[in-house]
Amino acid sequence: MKTNVSLKSHNSFGFDATARYFVEINAIGDLQALIKSGELQNRKTLILSGGNNILFQDEVFDGLVVYINTKGIEILREDENEIIVRSQAGEDWPGFVRFCVGKGWHGMENLAHIPGKVGAAPVQNIGAYGMELKDCFLQCEAMNIASGETKVFTKKECRFGYRESIFKGELKGQYVITSVDFLLKKNTSLHLEYGNIKTYLEQNGIDNPTLQQLHDAICAIRDAKLPDVKQLGSAGSFFKNPVIERAQFEALQKDYPDIPHYDEPNGKVKVPAGWLIEQAGWKGWRDKHVGVYDKQALVLVHYGGGKGEDIVDLSQRIQDSVETKFGIKISPEVNYV
Ligand code: EPU
Repeated sequence: MKTNVSLKSHNSFGFDATARYFVEINAIGDLQALIKSGELQNRKTLILSGGNNILFQDEVFDGLVVYINTKGIEILREDENEIIVRSQAGEDWPGFVRFCVGKGWHGMENLAHIPGKVGAAPVQNIGAYGMELKDCFLQCEAMNIASGETKVFTKKECRFGYRESIFKGELKGQYVITSVDFLLKKNTSLHLEYGNIKTYLEQNGIDNPTLQQLHDAICAIRDAKLPDVKQLGSAGSFFKNPVIERAQFEALQKDYPDIPHYDEPNGKVKVPAGWLIEQAGWKGWRDKHVGVYDKQALVLVHYGGGKGEDIVDLSQRIQDSVETKFGIKISPEVNYV
């Protein structure tokens, strides 16, 4: 166990927070041993994965950070149509997607290029371009951080929702996901319906995209809209897209006929928070250290030299201003620590 470790390279915002205690887990047995030693019970604990969806509010995390960095990909079952692949939690998500796409396995291509690690993907049911993690998820194994016992969670037991799961809700802080099993298809149609996928393919003269071409298109579309976290600190979408009552939406549509929206199965309407934030005048706003990304208003960015509290303040100001203008509450999808 190390002490006073900088977390700068462990959070995609790039804030220079310090962990009072820090331990890196490279094998599941080490995690079990750590739990049995009682260290986790004695201290405030943070299970850290890629750090891509986290905001350190304070300069010091006065507890133990457990960094999960286990590796390994294995095929569990395969026939001519389907394949079940297991990935250990510490594998890089975009690398894992690239690997599967390279093998011709369908199911995760629309989730290409999302920074993070495999073990964190189910926690907030990552989603992009018309697909969510739950669409290719079979089950995961997780370790109880009080007992060290492992449990398999089926898809149903994970209770996936929009950027939600049992690991972010009822069982928050109680389990560490150690591996994830994916059910992928060898031959199936591609999902090209979302947003500008078709436009991008047309503009690039691609009529009938292959799996690899769709993967590469998604990467290019993301690159054009979202900052590269190696160059500019961010946590991707900072807020969730709010879901509002249809009556409220229809009233809004009278004033803003072009408001983008997605109908929800329960009759409600999801409105892009990025659009609301842009309309409220925040897109491209910046002060010295933090700001709102100029190509996608849903993304808050850290230009360097700032503190977590700068983002906390900015996000609060944005939430207040959107609520004042539209009467809609938006809430962060990023985890505050
Ligand atoms: N829009 C604006 N202004 C903006 C941003 C967006 O008017 O500054 C409008 C767009 O023109 C479009 C609509 O809002 O009509 C939706 O925009 P976009 O397709 O970029 O998607 P989003 O709803 O802003 C969500 C996810 C992203 C994901 C994209 C693509 C959430 C919170 N975010 O963003 O996920 O990549 O769809 O599927 O659901 C993430 O979670 O970190 C993330 C990047």
